[in-house]
Amino acid sequence: MTYSQFHRYRHTQSLRDLFQEKTLTVNDVILPIFIHESLTQKKEIASLPGMFQWSLADLSDEIKSAVDLGIKAVILFGIPSKKDDIGSEADNPNGIIQKAITLIKSIAPHLVVIADTCLCEYTSHGHCGIQKDGHLDNPKTLTRLASIAVSYANAGADMIAPSGMMDGMVLAIREALDHHHYHRVSIMSYSVKYASGLYGPFRDAAGSGDNFKGNRNHHQMNITQSREAILEAEADIQEGADIIMVKPAGTYLDIICKLRDRFNHPIAAYQVSGEYSMLKAAVKAGILDEEKAMIESLAAIKRAGADLIITYYAKQLAKYLSPTLQT
Ligand code: PBG
Ligand code: ZN
Repeated sequence: MTYSQFHRYRHTQSLRDLFQEKTLTVNDVILPIFIHESLTQKKEIASLPGMFQWSLADLSDEIKSAVDLGIKAVILFGIPSKKDDIGSEADNPNGIIQKAITLIKSIAPHLVVIADTCLCEYTSHGHCGIQKDGHLDNPKTLTRLASIAVSYANAGADMIAPSGMMDGMVLAIREALDHHHYHRVSIMSYSVKYASGLYGPFRDAAGSGDNFKGNRNHHQMNITQSREAILEAEADIQEGADIIMVKPAGTYLDIICKLRDRFNHPIAAYQVSGEYSMLKAAVKAGILDEEKAMIESLAAIKRAGADLIITYYAKQLAKYLSPTLQT
């Protein structure tokens, strides 16, 4: 009897390739895109290095570069020039997202277009739902979300991604889509979204932190919860979600793993703005090697069981995987 010789699996590159259990590919990632109605040219987001708020005028550059890199899907966030207390611009047929979807479909008809669906970018108060007497009015919010989802479908969205953690949002959206004969439009629900401290840079990017006072603890999940994550995912599946999501990703790998064991639906994970910006800051400070840190953070999410990863690293990953591709 000798001791175990694990080095036999790994002492050459070919052996490591042969035994590799999981492989990251460009098909695994979804690129987030912010589109700002008031801009005439793109603007870099200081807290989210390398990411931009795009104007409608230069959005096609970003779409072409994503398609050239082999990216299969984008998720869109709109920043309207006008906000009010019910987020009226979100379902304006000429709203920023409706225009962006139409434009994207005209230049890249095969790109999967996912529309993030929430009110926080559109409301003057920055809350994810309609407010009544200082409280969230869940039923009224559902009516708004259903109308917004139909409006995005009408513009050509392939997938609706409700991100506000409203109770019943998946059912309300599914019924509205079906009622309008959008049977093929799918729903990727932010099923398990935590009240995380890692969304700060996103709120700069999406302008949803502007006038926002308070927190989202009333509707986003408490960071300590794991059994409740299963309840949330179960409910969304019952209501008709096609894809369930965990967000953030890196600090909730245990949750991805649990859902993977329990459900057979595709699982998406969102590597959120804070996760990305932390790595960028460490790289800038000369503390980490960017490629290694990027790959390790994404491989961990896939290893935990995610099928799809929403990540600000989508284009950088694509370039890393196919170094000959240019943008
Ligand atoms: C809006 C929304 C948020 C994110 C995605 N959709 C922010 C929030 O809930 O405050 C966060 C994404 C990120 O941090 O990258 N409902
Ligand atoms: Zn929101």
